[in-house]
Amino acid sequence: MTDDKLPGLFASYPAVYAVGDRYQIIIPVTKESVMWVRVGGRCFYDDSNGILRSASPTHIMELPMKELDAAGSYTVCWREVNERKPYFSDLSDVYECSFSFRPISPDAKTINVYHVADAHNRVTGPVSAGSWFGDGLDLLVLNGDIPNHSGDIANFAAIHRIAGEITRGARPVIFSRGNHDTRGIYAEKLAEHTPTDGGRSYFTLRLGPLWAVVLDCAEDKPDGNAEYGHTICCHDFRLRETEFLKKVASDPENEYAAPGVRFRLCIAHNPFNETLKPPFDIEQELYGEWCRILGERVRPQLMLCGHIHRCYVTLPGGERDAKGAPCPVVVASATGGKEDREYFAGGAITLSDSGADVRFTDSRGALLSETFVDF
Ligand SMILES: [Fe+2]
Repeated sequence: MTDDKLPGLFASYPAVYAVGDRYQIIIPVTKESVMWVRVGGRCFYDDSNGILRSASPTHIMELPMKELDAAGSYTVCWREVNERKPYFSDLSDVYECSFSFRPISPDAKTINVYHVADAHNRVTGPVSAGSWFGDGLDLLVLNGDIPNHSGDIANFAAIHRIAGEITRGARPVIFSRGNHDTRGIYAEKLAEHTPTDGGRSYFTLRLGPLWAVVLDCAEDKPDGNAEYGHTICCHDFRLRETEFLKKVASDPENEYAAPGVRFRLCIAHNPFNETLKPPFDIEQELYGEWCRILGERVRPQLMLCGHIHRCYVTLPGGERDAKGAPCPVVVASATGGKEDREYFAGGAITLSDSGADVRFTDSRGALLSETFVDF
């Protein structure tokens, strides 16, 4: 589909996010509407306990991965709302628009992943950089600080615009929250506009032969920092997340080692194996425990991070590794200054059975450096 064929209602292409064993198809819209997707003859609605949602500018339709993987396409259906009333609401006829979708095959020998983090409201640069693989892209990772902050609800559209413009709704996307996403009066509403596991921003997922755990470090300074003005309780949030991680690691069914899993990733905005300078040197013990749990039980082959605004690979025990990283860590995001604000660099990573070919590439289409990481 070309941009000029995109329905006027759509603020961007759909983005197909992966959470658990389900996709969450998210479409930001420009007008009040009700929406659902049809896949293989079944409809999956954006509803709240049977009531079609129309008040939100973000539609979210959830469905089992296996339904969309088998169908290879989905049809978005909607009615525009002229007036919603207690009785005899006035809505338009049904409109439809179809999109193709290519899942990651369970037999895939290689997986091309593009990693974007720290866009801070940039769209053009991250989309240019994220188009590195062209049609060869298999998976997009949006790894935090995509909006500059959550003080304006319009900032959330940057997330789905980047995802939609890179993937055209035809590839899976993984979203993780960054520390800047936690700031502003709409931060508490982020879960209503982004993919979560029932409201939780940390979760696991499975895409063909790939399993991943998405972790959320939340803020990057102590809860009592004056910048937050008594509005956060991230330490308690991380304690709950530790319990979740322990539960995943001790899962008797070992979802991370289930039949068919050949790639295991940990995705987190902050490279929590590092110790940054004060006041960013938080949660030494807790992050050390996360590294230990992952390293001893889950054994991811690669960790993907942003936050530092630099592109590099850290090996366990390397100079930057302060806590015993569970695996090599790829930190992949860089942005331009005032002279070229849209400049952006990210990671083009090809996973194979022998390792990961990690290329840092930029919005000018340049290959900045390339490293092969053995598994
Ligand atoms: Fe960050």
